[in-house]
Amino acid sequence: WSKQMFPKFVETNKSLEATKSAKLCFLYGSQTGNAAEICKNLAAEAGEKGYPVEVCAMNEVEPGDVLKPGAVITFVVSSTGDGDAPDNCDTFFTRLKRKAKKEKGQGGIGVQYSVLGLGDQNYSAFMAVPRMFTQIMEDLGAKAFAKRAECDDTLGLYEQVDAWTNAYWARLESARVKSHKLRIGETVEGDVAVAAPEAQVKEIEVPKKQSIEGVPPLPICRCEVEWMPKTTEVDACPVKHGPDSDGAYTVTSPYMASISKRELLTSPTSDRRVLHLEFDLGSSAISYKPGDSIGVIPQNDKSLVQGIVARLGLEADAVFTLKWKKGDNDEHATHPLPHVRTPCTVESAFTNFIDVTGCPRKSLLRFLAEHCTNAEEKDALLHLSSRGGRSDYEAQIRSQSPTLLTLLARFPSCAPPLAELLDSLSPLAPRLYSITCSPEVAPTNPSVAFSVVKFEAPNGEDRRGVATNWLDALSESAQVPVYIKPSLKFGLPEDTAAPIIMIGPGTGVAPFRGFLQARRAKAKKGEKLSEAILFFGCRRRDEDFLYEQDWQSFVDDGSLTKFVCAFSRETSEKVYVQHKIQEHATEVARLISEGAYIMVCGDGAHMAKDVHATLIRVITDAGVVPDQKTAETLLMDYTKSGRYVRDIWS
Ligand code: 2AM
Repeated sequence: WSKQMFPKFVETNKSLEATKSAKLCFLYGSQTGNAAEICKNLAAEAGEKGYPVEVCAMNEVEPGDVLKPGAVITFVVSSTGDGDAPDNCDTFFTRLKRKAKKEKGQGGIGVQYSVLGLGDQNYSAFMAVPRMFTQIMEDLGAKAFAKRAECDDTLGLYEQVDAWTNAYWARLESARVKSHKLRIGETVEGDVAVAAPEAQVKEIEVPKKQSIEGVPPLPICRCEVEWMPKTTEVDACPVKHGPDSDGAYTVTSPYMASISKRELLTSPTSDRRVLHLEFDLGSSAISYKPGDSIGVIPQNDKSLVQGIVARLGLEADAVFTLKWKKGDNDEHATHPLPHVRTPCTVESAFTNFIDVTGCPRKSLLRFLAEHCTNAEEKDALLHLSSRGGRSDYEAQIRSQSPTLLTLLARFPSCAPPLAELLDSLSPLAPRLYSITCSPEVAPTNPSVAFSVVKFEAPNGEDRRGVATNWLDALSESAQVPVYIKPSLKFGLPEDTAAPIIMIGPGTGVAPFRGFLQARRAKAKKGEKLSEAILFFGCRRRDEDFLYEQDWQSFVDDGSLTKFVCAFSRETSEKVYVQHKIQEHATEVARLISEGAYIMVCGDGAHMAKDVHATLIRVITDAGVVPDQKTAETLLMDYTKSGRYVRDIWS
């Protein structure tokens, strides 16, 4: 494999004999950055152990270039909410599937692989993509050298990855030895290395650790900054907006919407601030359906950006462009940093394209360490990014989640160059909000409802959600880059005769307002409506009873059969939606046995689990199923068939 194929290569250990050291390939497919981070960490650790390695996003390579006899590939991939492949591996994934379809059953191809899957068990499509990867690789005749990892975010991603890698390193070494034989054409027993059952894994000595000056290798930055005169014209709208060449508005070509209505849904005296915002889509002809979300591309806080720019010793209005480093391949299809549109000002780059508030990853700490002139600061950062410093990383970084500015203030000797810093930080991700209305009522003005996120970090520092605070502070005339993210599973059932059970405390109730508006429109057209019950939860009637009047009017005209509200802070004991579901157990069980669709929206960390457990109890107690285990299976089947759908977040 040439360097060209792996533009983001990791420097290899030159001391290994070339003949014995085909590079180990680490490929990631990552939506939020976790899979990329974990993959780069694995590759860095493999490099530290003395293996020559290469690492990049899957879309940066062609399946045909990596699936060669002797190849040892580790895939690190996550599933997005609906079970789609992450954006930076979708093309590779499609081509791999096509290849497998064509070549299935043609025998071993001498490729060894392993899949490290990341996901969140709260989502119905948990592990869909990692499992498909395994299936496709098996269809292609490749052999797994380690058991697939299925790491669940709700149980602590990094801890589970660590547990998996304990056995992985030994298997990787045995895969590498077999790979050499395969490359030189030797027959290896069973064609390629077959993963031994867990109990049979022998501790195999891996090559001695060799780190470069004690620093695990980092991906090399492929681009450089070219400063331009301040008079250079920069795009007045830094975000490249749509429509795209197909006339569509998407995440990479959003619509610049104005805000046509803004309303505070909570009491002004409450410490909870829930806003209702309506976006004007003008004559864009953008369409949506109830259950879809609006994606918003936010901006970072102005004073935070100014602080970072000043700390880095840069001028906010300095104009720059990014270009490939000399000697690198200009044929790369993508821009070096696709999320930064240049030329732009320094302030705009940090405001619009780069995540400066997300929890700093270990690779960022390693990068910052490299640019500290003070040895103590460098050591402290290296310690935090090392395995040995895991508990300090948890206590000081993960639980505090310092901003980039806080980190730079803590390590004053750190002076990272701009291009490398931009390359080391994650792109500023769009935020998705459930639409609260239906197109029959608001064809060009979809609205959303969200809590403005403010909380205190354990060290007492204030933390604010990037997008919700930005939206809250926007001026009347501001324009917001938006696009519609259609939902594949969360929507009104096609079977109009099926009853529906909706469960949505807090802002989780938002999509159900859209569902009920759509049902009202259907009824007006003469359609017969099925039974529908909504469980909503809030603190107090006079504090955060979101859209209170709407629910009553839906009941009055029959779009909603029953509205049940749990007030959690009106009594000495907490009353939550799950308690209300239990209270209405007979009715809920009847609706389920009559074929109801169950839809849950809102907090995935606690509520969705508690509701799930209550539903199990309700259907078991009512005798819909003989025991709890059968109830679990039933809900699993309903999830697969789309009768039990959850749109949850944590
Ligand atoms: P609380 O804040 O009083 O604990 C919307 O946020 C509503 O969801 C609030 O009434 C909140 O109650 C409630 N809530 C908090 N935890 C929950 C859980 N585990 N299950 C269901 N509702 C919960």
